[in-house]
Amino acid sequence: MTGPEKKVSTGAWKLEPAEEGIAFLVFDLPGEKVNKLSGAVIDDLDRVLDEVAGVESIRALVVCGGKEDSGTFIAGADIAEIRGVTDEQEARAQARRGQAVLGKLASMKAVTIAAIHGNCLGGGAELALACDLRIASDFEKTRIGLPEVQLGILPGFGGTQRLPRLIGLARALPVILTGKPLDVRKALKLGVIDEAAHPASLRESSRELAVRALAGKGKGYRPGFARRSLFMRLLEGSGLGRSYIRSRALKNIQRKTGRHYPAPRRALDSMVDGYGMSLKDGLELEAKLVGALAVSPTCKNLIDIFLTSEAARRGDGSGKKGRGAARAPGEGAMVGLLGAGVMGGGLAALVSLKGYRARLKDISREAISSGYRRIAAILQGRVARRRMKKSEVINFMARVSSSTDYAGFGSAGIVIEAVVEDMEIKKKVLREAETGLGAHVVFASNTSALSVTDLQNAAKRPGRIVGLHFFNPVERMPLVEVIRGSRTTEAALVAVETFARSLGKIPVRCEDAPGFLVNRVLGVYLNEAVRLLAEGYSPEEMDREIRSFGMPMGPLELMDEVGHDVASKVSSILHKGFGERARPPDALSGLGNDPAVLGRKTGRGFYIHGGTGRRRKPKLNTALLAKIGRERGGYRTPYAGLWVKRLIYPMINEAAMALGEEVVATASDVDLAMVFGTGFAPFRGGPLRYADSLGIGAIVETLKGFGESRLAPCERLQELADRDEGFYTPSEPQNG
Ligand SMILES: NC(=O)c1ccc[n+]([C@@H]2O[C@H](COP(=O)([O-])OP(=O)(O)OC[C@H]3O[C@@H](n4cnc5c(N)ncnc54)[C@H](O)[C@@H]3O)[C@@H](O)[C@H]2O)c1
Repeated sequence: MTGPEKKVSTGAWKLEPAEEGIAFLVFDLPGEKVNKLSGAVIDDLDRVLDEVAGVESIRALVVCGGKEDSGTFIAGADIAEIRGVTDEQEARAQARRGQAVLGKLASMKAVTIAAIHGNCLGGGAELALACDLRIASDFEKTRIGLPEVQLGILPGFGGTQRLPRLIGLARALPVILTGKPLDVRKALKLGVIDEAAHPASLRESSRELAVRALAGKGKGYRPGFARRSLFMRLLEGSGLGRSYIRSRALKNIQRKTGRHYPAPRRALDSMVDGYGMSLKDGLELEAKLVGALAVSPTCKNLIDIFLTSEAARRGDGSGKKGRGAARAPGEGAMVGLLGAGVMGGGLAALVSLKGYRARLKDISREAISSGYRRIAAILQGRVARRRMKKSEVINFMARVSSSTDYAGFGSAGIVIEAVVEDMEIKKKVLREAETGLGAHVVFASNTSALSVTDLQNAAKRPGRIVGLHFFNPVERMPLVEVIRGSRTTEAALVAVETFARSLGKIPVRCEDAPGFLVNRVLGVYLNEAVRLLAEGYSPEEMDREIRSFGMPMGPLELMDEVGHDVASKVSSILHKGFGERARPPDALSGLGNDPAVLGRKTGRGFYIHGGTGRRRKPKLNTALLAKIGRERGGYRTPYAGLWVKRLIYPMINEAAMALGEEVVATASDVDLAMVFGTGFAPFRGGPLRYADSLGIGAIVETLKGFGESRLAPCERLQELADRDEGFYTPSEPQNG
């Protein structure tokens, strides 16, 4: 901070006059939908706390959020501010500043209470932890958590020190190391909050809590104290015990996040080492560790991905409504689903979970029954993961009705087609369905790679035909590609994007090119993977190395998941669309011919999968692999960097080509789609941010060095290399 400049108040904190010694401090950031703790807001809090300290009559202070609409207490620190910090010392100083102000709150003479309604995350949770007591509304959207590690940092305003001191080290570790927010029930059980109240009476209940505290032990009053066992207290209290706790947590971190995500490891150090220190020293350690993390490329990449995905979820910068608007279906509306297979069943479960009704149509009762089994399995899975009560399953199932004809489709607000990937069948289904649909209803095809423009040729109202490419498993994969056919109207695109967002998805707009974006880029990668096998490299090593690069699975594992039949169908569409350079290797074209060897769904693919026991480690299917490559043991030795150069660089090249052809609008659309559609190493920020980090020139040289026309660098890549620029440097204009 330079000079004693007079700071402008954000007007975020309103101190209400005290009644009977109890004052409410309301946080309501003007002009923002949610409350965020920016540097300026923290400065203001500092001033208002001084004011409170100066009023003798205030004996209890209740801090609460003033955002009735969004229902947030505090959504966290201002992430864009963290993104902007590039100097480690500055990052440390910002953490120390936050710690100092929350320290002032913690040491107030008055009893302090956080009254939490809605999201209480990151810096918001740290503020609540700095209060003497916490009460939360028993509201489904109330969530308390410290998700910083998910953005590559750790809680830096005292969270790693105060939470373990409040609830014990062992209980606090998973909260901070996973970053998963707690619901009210769990927060109460762990002792993170002291009480829960009905949302309508939160204010009154916090006042009562203050009255009780003032009548009792004041700042020492602990109604919700969740006592730990003597054993746990002894374990956590000794250096040896803490080493044991650390080693167990470390194993977990290594298993779940590996070496690419340093934040959980540093958060563990901050918590375990800090626990054995004074609070002051622990806070200093925390500031030091967060400072180093905040300026790391991992943190910047994770924040970029987070900010762009949030913008896409909100629809910032998406197109304007066209004339004769097609409408997104309203809440509770009927969604027509054609095809009750893998995708149709998954979509029925998803739309029902999001409050819509679904009408499912397939050609036979058997197909519909198997669709219902899929829906039930998805819902049961949520029950098993405690995301839903068992008793609720029946309600969600009841929202799905079905038929083998188009009865009931007249009331659909949108129709999604998910029948087999065959253009003639899709056209026939479109013609049949279109006759009974209302004037503004959009017909969305979930095709993986077929041309939406071609499908429009069969339509009576082509303007309302859109591609809506969900990914499998549809209830879990966040991405959806929204494809504009040559005659699709802007209104129809906006309607499906709005609908996709209402399902919690991230829509990315694509032009109608073969494979759209994600499958096109993946197609090149899978082709190369099979070529590498044919060249005699080890399949296991390939998958292992690509996983260690940061992908959720290796390319052969991915092909087993997708299904060899599907993979070879998509690759032949890409071949047809792009010609010789996209020719699949012979071995890949042959895959999918044997109906018993289609990947996980048939138990056999490149690997032999252990039936339903997902935990059983798959073994190599040597019979299939020997037909493509070498016998086990006789593999070629890879040269340094082979896997990344031969598998990831061609993906970058293809993505650059798609961007050059304006299949998507921006480099961040590419990265967003690849991270959320395929799990492309998020800490690398997606393929194009990764390319920038390597330098485009080096990639171009490597691609040229292969001397293969299919791997030749595309025009866009070559231009960037010539200008010594990157996809984001000079910085890319953001959408909208
Ligand atoms: N499975 C995936 O991973 C995935 C991912 C994204 C997109 N897709 C696309 O989604 C679509 C469906 O794929 P899937 O995997 O669910 O296929 P699937 O084979 O599991 O299901 C297709 C269903 O369509 C039904 N069907 C066939 N003709 C019909 C008709 N005339 N009317 C109504 N139903 C009919 C079939 O009986 C079957 O139940 C395809 O276009 C596919 O490319 C699939």
